[in-house]
Amino acid sequence: MVLPFKHEPFTDFNVDSNRRDFEEALALVKEHLGKEYPIVINGEKIFTEDKLISTNPADKEQLIGKVSKATKQHVDQAMDAALEAFKTWRKWTAAERADLLFRTAAIIRRRKHEFSAWLVYDAGKPWDQADGDIAEGIDFLEYYGRQMLELGQGKVLNDRANEHNAYFYQPMGPGVVIPPWNFAFAIVCGTTIAPVVAGNPVLLKPSENTPVIAYKLIEVLEEAGLPKGVVNFIPGDPEEIGDYLVDHKETRFINFTGSRATGTRIYERAAKVYEGQQSLKRVIAEMGGKDTIIVDNDADLNLAAEAIVHSSFGFSGQKCSACSRAVIHQDVYDDVLEKVVVLTKQLTVGNPANANVYMGAVVNKKQFEKIRDYIAIGKEEGVLVHGGETDDTNGYFVSPTIFKDLDPQARIMQEEIFGPIVAFTKAADFDEMLEIANNTDYGLTGAVISNNRAHLNRARYDFNVGNLYFNRGCTAAIVGYQPFGGFKMSGTDSKAGGPDYLQHFLEAKVVSESF
Ligand code: SER
Repeated sequence: MVLPFKHEPFTDFNVDSNRRDFEEALALVKEHLGKEYPIVINGEKIFTEDKLISTNPADKEQLIGKVSKATKQHVDQAMDAALEAFKTWRKWTAAERADLLFRTAAIIRRRKHEFSAWLVYDAGKPWDQADGDIAEGIDFLEYYGRQMLELGQGKVLNDRANEHNAYFYQPMGPGVVIPPWNFAFAIVCGTTIAPVVAGNPVLLKPSENTPVIAYKLIEVLEEAGLPKGVVNFIPGDPEEIGDYLVDHKETRFINFTGSRATGTRIYERAAKVYEGQQSLKRVIAEMGGKDTIIVDNDADLNLAAEAIVHSSFGFSGQKCSACSRAVIHQDVYDDVLEKVVVLTKQLTVGNPANANVYMGAVVNKKQFEKIRDYIAIGKEEGVLVHGGETDDTNGYFVSPTIFKDLDPQARIMQEEIFGPIVAFTKAADFDEMLEIANNTDYGLTGAVISNNRAHLNRARYDFNVGNLYFNRGCTAAIVGYQPFGGFKMSGTDSKAGGPDYLQHFLEAKVVSESF
């Protein structure tokens, strides 16, 4: 028996001792910046000349680490190692594999602030966001371990006279894991250990923006006793090895989280069957979002403003769940906007490695320039109410930015920006609000702030998103509480952190015996 799942509590940084502990962790990690990290294949650490260079987005001169780059040959070696490891890993019992996850969770929990501090440097996360990211990683380990224990028992089928029928799950074989940089620990951890606890070895290609914190997971898995070859660490250029990993004839599944462009490319490529390939590939693709918060005319307007600010500007809007569209009833439009501006003016922006700021820098130059371009577009399409400043002197800083009076079809109302920009639009009634909310290609998250029960009931079925929230913001899903995944061009609705997730990496088998 294991204790029921309970999510990892967040750290309260209003408590002095917590702040001091976190500062100590930042100082400790700082001493380890700038090191070199290997590829890991079959437990062997391989250092290459060619390296990915990770720097602090809030301090471009600060080197976080240099990570060896894998080539196509490394991918082949890793696939061979995974195939070999599969022969034994698949025979570990569900309980044995789950225990390994629980031990991994325990190790990370003991060193939680240290891991969060790595995220502060490698991904530029503010303290609370880094703390939440590590907590989510721990949650995935604890939750999927328990899921595997449950699934390990199979399902009950009906028997007939002189016939016994059994239904059980078996792993599929090696797969490829391609996680994003924005939850550089949580999603790396969740998308890796879910297939692994189900019995599948993986080739993990971390984001080139955040490879160092991903390597920290590899270290802990090794410490926890994961056999060689079960998780192979293959950092590299997406242009060099991305397609190759997907196309490989031995790849059984691709567990991807990232952009719509890459996700749809993977989906298409994975459909092709190559010579010698024995199975169709499964694709789990969690892609973008263009997420809306609706505010009704009878809503609690303070709650609405807080929900919009937190969902739009938390981690600088660099979440697929982030609110980038606020659709407000005409009766309360001016009031909500004013409250949002007041709250936004209180937000602090700076280098999270130096202080407990609300927002850090955005992840890299490319994103910075993209966001800057969208600010220019927003100025043409709507009215800039607050923010709009950018500064890349030391790091990639963008101030929290609010536009108003957008046409629902405007580009900044339709295209994913992945930055701290929220666009306001006015609607005449609830019908129109829902219509605008649904008018994008995406269907990931959304929120309705309303005290009208009939409207909430309508939204429950007609607001077409995978994760819908009532009277709260549209970010910060918690493993086991809000399984996460979207509709439409947001992805395959895999519901990470939910009761059906591990099935993506399992085959169900039926054995019937006549007596
Ligand atoms: N799961 C995250 C959230 O809900 C997004 O990836 O904010």
